Amino acid sequence: MIDPATRALETVRELWQNKRDTKIAELFDADSGRFGGFSTSCGDVLYDMSKTRLDDALRDALLKVADAADVAGWRNRMFAGEAINSTEGRAVQHMALRAPDDAEVIIDGQDVMPDVRAVRDAMATFATGIRNGSIAGKGGAFTDVVNIGIGGSDLGPYMVTEALKPWHDGPRTHFVSNVDSADIREVLAKLDPSTTLFIVASKTFTTQETMTNATTAREWFVQRCGEEAVGAHFAALSTALDKTADFGIAEDRTFGFWEWVGGRYSVWSAIGLSVMLAVGSDRFREFLAGAHAVDKHFQQADGAGNVPLMMALVGIFHRNICGYDTHAVLPYDQYLHRFPAYLQQLDMESNGKSVGRDGGAVATDTGPIVWGEPGTNGQHAFYQLIHQGTSVVPCDFLIAANAVNPIGDHHEKLAANVFAQGEALAKGKDEASVRAELEAKGMAADEIDALAPHKVFPGNRPSCTVLYPQLTPFVLGQLIALYEHKVFVQGIIWNINSFDQWGVELGKELAGGLLPLVKSAAEAKADENASTAGLLSAFHAMRNA
Ligand code: F6P
Repeated sequence: MIDPATRALETVRELWQNKRDTKIAELFDADSGRFGGFSTSCGDVLYDMSKTRLDDALRDALLKVADAADVAGWRNRMFAGEAINSTEGRAVQHMALRAPDDAEVIIDGQDVMPDVRAVRDAMATFATGIRNGSIAGKGGAFTDVVNIGIGGSDLGPYMVTEALKPWHDGPRTHFVSNVDSADIREVLAKLDPSTTLFIVASKTFTTQETMTNATTAREWFVQRCGEEAVGAHFAALSTALDKTADFGIAEDRTFGFWEWVGGRYSVWSAIGLSVMLAVGSDRFREFLAGAHAVDKHFQQADGAGNVPLMMALVGIFHRNICGYDTHAVLPYDQYLHRFPAYLQQLDMESNGKSVGRDGGAVATDTGPIVWGEPGTNGQHAFYQLIHQGTSVVPCDFLIAANAVNPIGDHHEKLAANVFAQGEALAKGKDEASVRAELEAKGMAADEIDALAPHKVFPGNRPSCTVLYPQLTPFVLGQLIALYEHKVFVQGIIWNINSFDQWGVELGKELAGGLLPLVKSAAEAKADENASTAGLLSAFHAMRNA
């Protein structure tokens, strides 16, 4: 039986049949108030979706898809602490981590806020002590902090510390994630062990990459400072407090969180400790407050005025109605250079699913491939394809009105570029204009015939723009939470569980089985996959060469 959201999507598709030739430029010609009608705000973050092919009827039909999927009901169930992560039997309550101190958040009949506050306070006391030198290492005040983690235990804190660099006034922060020894080697080479704090960040405290890097860091440290100094130089962030103790990390250096915090939603938890060490607990609080403001907006703003809802519906339109299978996130903000990578995990680990909540195959395409790089750099790399390639790539542009570190007219140039890109994608350039330009330059007719088709821009390519006053901790919290809730809404419409990640398990399992074969050439022939066996034997041949 077809579910109500899929049926409502069918209605959008039918509507679209008569509008497939709609030109973005014509939509602007027909409605001088289009920018106002198709942009909306969450606090002072503006979301402009006017350069898409949505019109009033399509937007209304998409809002009906959200109603049919009962987005509001699921949102309320999520905020009420119900176990909406059905395959793991867990609540989804990262919003509690950014709730104000006096909030009450009930999960399983219990207010979790006393625990949340206790960890927040313990983190703040620890971070303040490290930052003012009252908590010191063997060689004195800590100068460097190394966060060892991967996935959500790396992408969030790394992206956020990079984004908040202008506010850094604590120890230097470093991030080690890859099991490739190059990663940890290059970081350790820069450090004085006697003034370095290692933070082992892992929700499960079993992740191969993290535990391997943590063990290597510990050995490196012990060789230089002795076993007795480990306690002062290692901290742990985890939900698995028994395992952190086994690793030898003292209880007062262990900061916990809970199973209702998904890894990719954990930067708001103890996993954010490296951020707090870098920028201080007050700035960290502002970061949480920004996200909390979006939580309120998501719960309270209606229909077309609800920014995460509209971000999600624009994405649904592009993915399920127009059939675009990738989505580019292009921050014109160098401090956000890790934001696309962060969103890849948030979006693709959440919504890269093909089985619905009911265990059956999903009825429609689900999460797009998310990718991106900061502008203007991307313009000189892959924008060629975005403008003239055979695939249409819906883009999100992000830009601040004010640079955090203004120099000369850099920021104005940056802004001119981002606005130009959106306009170029929407408007394009037709052959007549190209020919007229070439004629005006005095080019010969046969040369114009040859060159003109290459200089045509099809246009009519959609983009949305997220404009914010300045990349402060508060605004960064807003931006992340907007995308989190966008991903949530899409997961509900696609009828998938956005909060598990079974798709990462098989590779981990096989890697475990292959490790002995990689370590020992003698056993390599035992593997039954011919291609893998071939690669293993070539690998061993090269190692011995
Ligand atoms: O492999 C995927 C994953 O489970 C992510 O969901 C998670 O963020 C990452 O690994 C790291 O997990 P952990 O924090 O338990 O080390």
